[in-house]
Amino acid sequence: MIRDIFRFKDVSSTQDTAKRFVHRHQEIAVISERQRRGRGRHGRQWVSPKGGLYVSFTLFPSKRIGSIPLLAALTVVKLLEEYFFSRIAIHWPNDVFVNNKKICGVVCEQYKESIICGIGLNVNTECLPEHLGSATSMKIESGCSYDMEAIFAHVIDIFNHLYDELQGHGIKIEEALDYITGIGEVVEVKTQNGTYRATICDVNDDWSLLVRDCNGMMRTLYYEDVRRLVW
Ligand code: BTN
Repeated sequence: MIRDIFRFKDVSSTQDTAKRFVHRHQEIAVISERQRRGRGRHGRQWVSPKGGLYVSFTLFPSKRIGSIPLLAALTVVKLLEEYFFSRIAIHWPNDVFVNNKKICGVVCEQYKESIICGIGLNVNTECLPEHLGSATSMKIESGCSYDMEAIFAHVIDIFNHLYDELQGHGIKIEEALDYITGIGEVVEVKTQNGTYRATICDVNDDWSLLVRDCNGMMRTLYYEDVRRLVW
């Protein structure tokens, strides 16, 4: 349960700032108005101008660690629904799309005894770099500006509620499956010896991914193993 919130105007990455709080052994949130070196999964950059929501949670989950990325994605899905967005989809494991364009990314890192879970949501962002061809923001989609404080307060409320559920009886996977896209898509899988390509078949109950490799073998993949080829 997130109780303390630490606010900043400008940080390198809220992921790194959140790590500085691990020694307190308390679940906290770090939020910044912008980031100079925002980062995503697989070492990608997360462009972070003012107008976006950049938050990282320092968590100490006692169970179901593998579902934290799902929980973060579901938090954003529920937020977007509260703000009347439709055509919302989750690209496994945790990217959120609206109208087939990426609006939110999530990165989870294990650090010492904690999980640092970062959410980047394009809220009032108007100019997104051209190389992010399929990216969008809440403002681009709806034409409205949003109160960042209200958005953040909602995110904390929804996240706390889902996190409580997760640490109790768990999240019902069916809730998330309604939003999943990409079945039939090809992904690149990292192994110790290199990479191979496989086709997504399904999502398992623990939110791992079921794929078929080019030899027809079914394999189960986890968060860090997979890179999506289609955005
Ligand atoms: C991705 O799409 O690859 C994940 C992007 C995650 C970006 C967020 S913004 C808040 C937190 N701080 C970071 O540096 N990254 C995450």
